[in-house]
Amino acid sequence: MKWAIQARSFVAVVGLIGISSLASLLLVFYIHRYPVTILPGANGSDESIVREGSAAKGPIKGARLDICENPYLQPGFVWYNDTQEETQTSWVPFYPNLLEQSYALTKVEPTDEPADPTTSDGDPYFPTESPPEELLDVAPHQWMQDMVRHYQLSNANESQLCHSPEFRELEERLLWLRNRRVLIVSDSVDRYQSEYICNRLGLGLTHSKKGRQTAAWCHIPAWNLTLMNWHIASVSPTRPSWWWIEEMAVVSVEERWTEYYLPTLSDTIGMNGKSPDLILFHTGLWDHTYFIKGPEARGQNATWSRSLNWRELRFYMQRLRMVITMLRTQFGDDVPIMCRSVTLKKSLFSNVSILNLDRAARFVCNELDIEIMEFGEIITGYFEFYKDMVHIDRGPLSVLWANMIFFNLFRTQGGVEVRGELRKIPSNSTKVVNAAEGWNTCHNYFMNAKHY
Ligand SMILES: *[C@@H]1O[C@H](CO)[C@@H](O)[C@H](O)[C@H]1NC(C)=O
Ligand SMILES: *[C@@H]1O[C@H](CO)[C@@H](O)[C@H](O)[C@H]1NC(C)=O
Ligand SMILES: *[C@@H]1O[C@H](CO)[C@@H](O)[C@H](O)[C@H]1NC(C)=O
Ligand SMILES: *[C@@H]1O[C@H](CO)[C@@H](O)[C@H](O)[C@H]1NC(C)=O
Ligand SMILES: *[C@@H]1O[C@H](CO)[C@@H](O)[C@H](O)[C@H]1NC(C)=O
Ligand SMILES: *[C@@H]1O[C@H](CO)[C@@H](O)[C@H](O)[C@H]1NC(C)=O
Ligand SMILES: *[C@@H]1O[C@H](CO)[C@@H](O)[C@H](O)[C@H]1NC(C)=O
Repeated sequence: MKWAIQARSFVAVVGLIGISSLASLLLVFYIHRYPVTILPGANGSDESIVREGSAAKGPIKGARLDICENPYLQPGFVWYNDTQEETQTSWVPFYPNLLEQSYALTKVEPTDEPADPTTSDGDPYFPTESPPEELLDVAPHQWMQDMVRHYQLSNANESQLCHSPEFRELEERLLWLRNRRVLIVSDSVDRYQSEYICNRLGLGLTHSKKGRQTAAWCHIPAWNLTLMNWHIASVSPTRPSWWWIEEMAVVSVEERWTEYYLPTLSDTIGMNGKSPDLILFHTGLWDHTYFIKGPEARGQNATWSRSLNWRELRFYMQRLRMVITMLRTQFGDDVPIMCRSVTLKKSLFSNVSILNLDRAARFVCNELDIEIMEFGEIITGYFEFYKDMVHIDRGPLSVLWANMIFFNLFRTQGGVEVRGELRKIPSNSTKVVNAAEGWNTCHNYFMNAKHY
């Protein structure tokens, strides 16, 4: 058995799960029971906010605990057990008080580890152990697991499986996926991730006849659910003479818009006749290369690790705003959009200036009132799970990506999930759903709930 936890979270994780299982159980039990205090809002409306520094330490600062907690903005760790299905991969958030409660309940310092009974050295050891069920229970819902199970059951030969209570339960829980459209305006990193979702459901991605880096989609008939990818190759407004990929004739977003994107519009627009239900937006790796290749073409050495200069950053930021404005002009100002944080190349040490772009994009998105999907941040350094220098492979991390997408799509349909509990599951949404309304329920809270 092997823990698949990498780097940064490792110490924290081992510390957390290393405590005896009884302590963990009590601990989590206590979290569940922790009194949730919802204080009245400043003007007495029912938009109640859990006040910072209130007696209730369980709640997340600034969250509206009754319905607005975003597990992916909490610190936490990626957990998966590599002897089990990848679809069981979970983001396990650390909710406030994990440490304090363990002190209070166990009176055991977390460093008092048991000695390994199989040796006589008396040294502390950390038995391999899953996070307790109770902790996984408050982790975000695993939509990908549901969808794959649904797929397996609906393809099972035994007809009674299709009528099993498990299948009926899944059908009901996933009804909200019906007729949904997700638009991913990004590079191949996200295209691969959406492809993996489809692969897990026995489907492939269809590439536009115009080429591989243009538009690609996958339609999931089980729910009439479409994942549409519009490929973006930097924010460059032109195709410079030194563009490094000869076959790529069309570079600028503006040209791609009419050449590649608009022809797919009918598969991109959802039930409201106007927009997709959710847009994921990202561009960074291409822009980084663009800023290096330009000077290189003018005979300067390519220094991948140099700090990007102010003009480059300004240009990137203004163009980002431009592209987002195009999306809003096309689909309406209220279309739910998320910006994805950057994923690093495997050669991080020499390509670190991509982080300049990540910071700049975060700033722009925040200015434009757009939430960040912290996928890139959460998986920083998980290079073991890359398929090549750039792309994250199908595996535990792609399950995480899928779960993050569906967590957010669920919101657009009016779904409410709090600490793993599906408080409100949208009903058979064959009618028009106002995605913006669902989105806005928690949007302001999530904008202010900074990932720390
Ligand atoms: C007070 O209520 C209004 C509308 O009812 C709301 O827009 C505003 O955010 C509330 N203010 C606070 C501080 O809760
Ligand atoms: C991983 O899963 C296997 C099979 O379910 C189980 O026996 C094992 O204890 C698990 N390991 C961890 C670390 O949870
Ligand atoms: C279902 O039946 C087909 C044809 O009878 C067979 O080839 C296939 O292996 C079966 N699948 C399962 C999961 O039993
Ligand atoms: C599939 O979804 C699209 C977009 O939401 C909708 O326009 C279309 O009518 C749906 N098709 C069926 C068969 O329900
Ligand atoms: C590029 O780097 C090489 C090796 O470090 C050096 O010899 C050369 O002068 C550099 N060229 C420019 C234009 O800076
Ligand atoms: C940075 O990434 C690019 C593209 O993947 C790669 O070609 C280059 O070698 C990297 N930089 C260095 C100095 O390793
Ligand atoms: C959802 O609603 C559609 C249209 O009313 C209907 O055809 C379908 O059977 C419903 N699905 C379920 C599982 O209730």
